[in-house]
Amino acid sequence: MDSNNTILAISLLLSIWCATCVAQSSNVYNVKDHGAVGNGQNDDTKVFQAAWDASCAIEGNPTILIPEGSYLVGPLLFKGPCKGVMAIDLRGQLLASTNLNAYTKNWIEFQYINGLAISGGGTFNGQGSLAWPYNECPKKWSCKILPMSLVFSFVKNAKIKSISSVDSKLFHMHIFSSENFDIESVTISAPGDSPNTDGIHVAVSTNVTITNATIGTGDDCISVGPGTSNLNISNVHCGPGHGISVGSLGKNSGETDVVGLTVRNCTLNGTTNGLRIKTWQSSPTPLKAVHFTYEDIIMNNVYNPIIIDQEYCPYVSCAEKDPSRVQIYDIKFTNVKGTSSSAEAIKFICSSSFPCQGVILNDIDLKFIGDATGNMTTTSTCANVHGKSNGNVKPNPCI
Ligand SMILES: *[C@@H]1O[C@H](CO)[C@@H](O)[C@H](O)[C@H]1NC(C)=O
Ligand SMILES: *[C@@H]1O[C@H](CO)[C@@H](O)[C@H](O)[C@H]1NC(C)=O
Ligand SMILES: *[C@@H]1O[C@H](CO)[C@@H](O)[C@H](O)[C@H]1NC(C)=O
Ligand SMILES: *[C@@H]1O[C@H](CO)[C@@H](O)[C@H](O)[C@H]1NC(C)=O
Ligand SMILES: *[C@@H]1O[C@H](CO)[C@@H](O)[C@H](O)[C@H]1NC(C)=O
Ligand SMILES: *[C@@H]1O[C@H](CO)[C@@H](O)[C@H](O)[C@H]1NC(C)=O
Repeated sequence: MDSNNTILAISLLLSIWCATCVAQSSNVYNVKDHGAVGNGQNDDTKVFQAAWDASCAIEGNPTILIPEGSYLVGPLLFKGPCKGVMAIDLRGQLLASTNLNAYTKNWIEFQYINGLAISGGGTFNGQGSLAWPYNECPKKWSCKILPMSLVFSFVKNAKIKSISSVDSKLFHMHIFSSENFDIESVTISAPGDSPNTDGIHVAVSTNVTITNATIGTGDDCISVGPGTSNLNISNVHCGPGHGISVGSLGKNSGETDVVGLTVRNCTLNGTTNGLRIKTWQSSPTPLKAVHFTYEDIIMNNVYNPIIIDQEYCPYVSCAEKDPSRVQIYDIKFTNVKGTSSSAEAIKFICSSSFPCQGVILNDIDLKFIGDATGNMTTTSTCANVHGKSNGNVKPNPCI
């Protein structure tokens, strides 16, 4: 046996030993051993709820194992506090019930948990296509809200890794009132024309990272709501969809600031927006959106690659017309390159009451691809914005 084979043999022995030791010393709750059928037809909700409730009462590192198979479940409430650190090893596929009457709120909700890991390569399938026609929110101010797929509220120290989410009825993931939350190597997909199927929405949360994700949906790739601080997004591929968006901010009273956002090494492909900040007019509470860094971004056929819109109004007419009271400052765009599907590649429409401050453009190169005449010149538009441009900036900067 040469030394390589010796190493191989030892690591094989170790992995066998380890598999045994994990199976024995930790508490693995295999849903199949507790009556889950996993044939995509049988309602396995009760087994899944029991799996969580039993595991949550165990100290240490309980793992809920979901083997291959399709499990029709939901809605589910995975509530803590739990005695130990919870893990879900999802290897199969969960299918959301298509009966909208079954839902009071969302599909799978995680609440009040300190220590949570979800991994395993499996899929959360929201089966949204039958529900999408019932979503009137893109058209109406007040509307019935469809269930989101995965909602995390009051969750600390979580890691979601190597899972997929497809065809949510509304948002795929909503991280709310949570902290120290890492999302890594996830794939999220829904058709480009599915309504409000945002990939990941983060609000009222601190220390969140999203890395190495592929997200294509009918709405925002990642959206950032009020009260978010220290959010890092890196190596994310978005498209189709509406891009990486902060806001809309300033719709409701009591909203709090968005502080510290880094978006690095991301690609936007065929999205309506690239990097967007949007705020409603006439916000009831004054608030701030500050310290954002966007760096090393590739745009491929994006309609509004860089946009700050403080007159956001998705409806024909909005109730309020006063200037936005959201103060935007210290926003840096560095090394943003690629193509725009509109000539107006940079658009800063800031509030006349609270002009944007410290907006910096460094090394921007955006070309227009939509013109049949072959004119690739892009333009920029500014209203109420202060800042500066450094290095080569195309389009010619208006700041
Ligand atoms: C990124 O995520 C994909 C799954 O979407 C995975 O196959 C790949 O190994 C991940 N890369 C890294 C560097 O983690
Ligand atoms: C966020 O992370 C920083 C260190 O990066 C830490 O000091 C701070 O306590 C964390 N905040 C919360 C709410 O966990
Ligand atoms: C986000 O990135 C910034 C700058 O690189 C770093 O200081 C901060 O600790 C990071 N935050 C998290 C939650 O990883
Ligand atoms: C940036 O993203 C590309 C994929 O688009 C990846 O190959 C590369 O490793 C990333 N760079 C860093 C520094 O993470
Ligand atoms: C970009 O989007 C187009 C159209 O949806 C698609 O054909 C292409 O494969 C995508 N490119 C990448 C790099 O994902
Ligand atoms: C190309 O487009 C830019 C921006 O719309 C315009 O200012 C310019 O005149 C155009 N150039 C030609 C040669 O048509």
